[in-house]
Amino acid sequence: MSAPIRIALFASGTGSNALALLRAGRELAPAVRLSELICDRADAPILDKLTDFDVKSHLIERNDGKKEHEAAILRILRAARADWIFLAGYMRLLSPDFVQQWRRWHGGAQQVVNIHPSLLPAYPGLDAVQRAVAAGETRIGVTLHHVDEGMDTGAIIAQDTVPYHPGEGLDALMARVHALEHRLYTGFLRDVAAARVPTTPFQENP
Ligand code: GRF
Repeated sequence: MSAPIRIALFASGTGSNALALLRAGRELAPAVRLSELICDRADAPILDKLTDFDVKSHLIERNDGKKEHEAAILRILRAARADWIFLAGYMRLLSPDFVQQWRRWHGGAQQVVNIHPSLLPAYPGLDAVQRAVAAGETRIGVTLHHVDEGMDTGAIIAQDTVPYHPGEGLDALMARVHALEHRLYTGFLRDVAAARVPTTPFQENP
């Protein structure tokens, strides 16, 4: 049996995507192993929700500069020999240096992905759903995409939409958006586990 594909989750907040991935990952073991969770906020609710899962959480707050912060994360992921990074509500942009280091460790493959609540390239960045609603959109999108050096600019993996019924509260809409995010993200995890999406393993000295 080949070694599990090792995935690191990054989350800064509620962590509903991270939890959906952890649940799916448990079913998909041993093909994949969601081994590490990187969090940059001590008050992130996700940190209190991990007791049922065999995942190692690392709280790495950004006290020093971005360079030191990212170097600390890279040290952990290198020790863990992580193959993929799944960003799940991680509210910081990864620097070009970070993204490029990751690519070098994975034979040039772009093995960082992110979920974003809009039909990219529309509404990149923060408050995407609120901006889409304010602009009069009646369908709200979700995009799963590779992460490159830009802000929500990487190659698109999957997209879909949910309806917005004008006048309804944001909470009801967000519940639909999150459900769609979980479906797209766990679908991608299944594709990785089944090797429908190829993985280049971590390799420090190719
Ligand atoms: C999601 O809406 C995701 O698209 C965005 O951040 C939010 C995180 O939600 N990048 P959660 O913490 O996974 O519930």
